[in-house]
Amino acid sequence: MPKVLISDSMSDLAKKTLENINIDVDVKTDLSEEELIKIINDYDALIVRSATKVTKKIINSGKNLKVIGRAGAGVDNIDLISAKENNVLVMNTPGANANATAEHTLALILSLIRNIPIANTSTHNGKWEKKNFKGIELSKKTIGIIGFGNVSINLCKLLNGFDMNIIAFSNSLNNRKKEFPNIKSVSLEELISNSDIITMHCKATKDGKPLINIDHFRKMKKTAYIINAARGNIINENDLNTALNENLITGAAIDVFSKEPAESNVLFNNPKVVLTPHIAASTKEAQVNVATMISEQIGNYLLNKQQVNIVK
Ligand code: MLT
Repeated sequence: MPKVLISDSMSDLAKKTLENINIDVDVKTDLSEEELIKIINDYDALIVRSATKVTKKIINSGKNLKVIGRAGAGVDNIDLISAKENNVLVMNTPGANANATAEHTLALILSLIRNIPIANTSTHNGKWEKKNFKGIELSKKTIGIIGFGNVSINLCKLLNGFDMNIIAFSNSLNNRKKEFPNIKSVSLEELISNSDIITMHCKATKDGKPLINIDHFRKMKKTAYIINAARGNIINENDLNTALNENLITGAAIDVFSKEPAESNVLFNNPKVVLTPHIAASTKEAQVNVATMISEQIGNYLLNKQQVNIVK
């Protein structure tokens, strides 16, 4: 009987789904790299979210390991090169948490442009600072979306009700233009200089270098807001902090950080930034979706050699 290790906390449905098809499952979370190295040999599959860093040493030690499943989209916590070298497949669950991430992005945008976090604190403190919290509206504004995968598609559906001009920078959009007639495909430069709100929904760059740095901030509208619920290293955080402090842009909302868990960060305590701790995909619904989807995929692979959502 194949054995699966779940090494991050996730919905119980992941375990139940696999046990229903007679696969043995252990759930052991918060393990160190050394602890994982010691036990990984006992398993045919490993299922993670983002907390477990699936390193070269762990993969090399998993002599029986056939597949790693990521309950989520991003696989930057898995060493894909080592997985390939060891003939270990990597699967993820594209789309399963996309609506949650799109809704959180919209929540961040609205919180930011209507000053909700800071107005909330002020009102709780008995101040009545009505004059300090004048916001702006989304209607007639231009939103620039960087990357056009499942999250962007869901976000555009949500934005339909807001009467916005949507522009996007993405290679994949160019091949799918007919499906999205109302979204204008533009260059990164055009997007940077024309957007009132810029939101990131792309993967981290392969070389790890930030896509957005001080040169880009200098070309943005001074009234622009930037949102990042994709990956922390897409934006240079020091440059973002400078851009906010020098009034090159007006505000930012950030759900992801270059180093997570983010216990310290240059953006902490900057009043122009709304921060959340990588929770864009943390809804009950999305966590059920990712857990069910990855366990079904892993089960089908272990029992029937069916390959779905393979990441290369
Ligand atoms: C993802 O990559 O799916 C999201 O960032 C959420 C997560 O890390 O689980």
